[in-house]
Amino acid sequence: MAGNRTFTMIKPDAVGAGNTGAIIKMIEEAGFKIIAMKKTYMSKERAGQFYEVHKERPFYNDLTTYMSSSAIVPMILEKDNAVEDFRKLIGATNPKEAAEGTIRALFAESIEANAIHGSDSDENAQIEGSFFFSRVEQF
Ligand code: PPS
Repeated sequence: MAGNRTFTMIKPDAVGAGNTGAIIKMIEEAGFKIIAMKKTYMSKERAGQFYEVHKERPFYNDLTTYMSSSAIVPMILEKDNAVEDFRKLIGATNPKEAAEGTIRALFAESIEANAIHGSDSDENAQIEGSFFFSRVEQF
């Protein structure tokens, strides 16, 4: 059965452009409840750990440099069928391919500066949420 939580991060491009509030509004209006949220930073090393699964991919160095360049807003979200529904809300990784009305279609600049992350499985949602939030923050 699909789980009811996912993990997201608003990325440096969207935070820097002042789009945090607009994106949170879209997330809440789509029926997601915010369980945990903060504004924080990742060092290059922490970004490398977060994206370790992509370490053999050609964009790994650029991605981790980018994700450690300025503030991010990680969140744990709750809703039925959270992972799948959230990936629909954010749209395709490449904003040129993102469906109209999705967060990436509205706010992403490029495949790298693509506004927002969404976990791709229930298991990764759990792992990624715990990367940023303690147990007590996840209640
Ligand atoms: S996904 O979401 O895992 O299916 O997408 P994927 O295409 O595998 O990309 C994984 C993350 O890498 C980022 N990405 C890139 N960054 C920089 N340059 C290029 N060319 C590039 N291609 C993909 C992409 O934004 C994904 O980041 P997250 O944070 O997981 O959304």
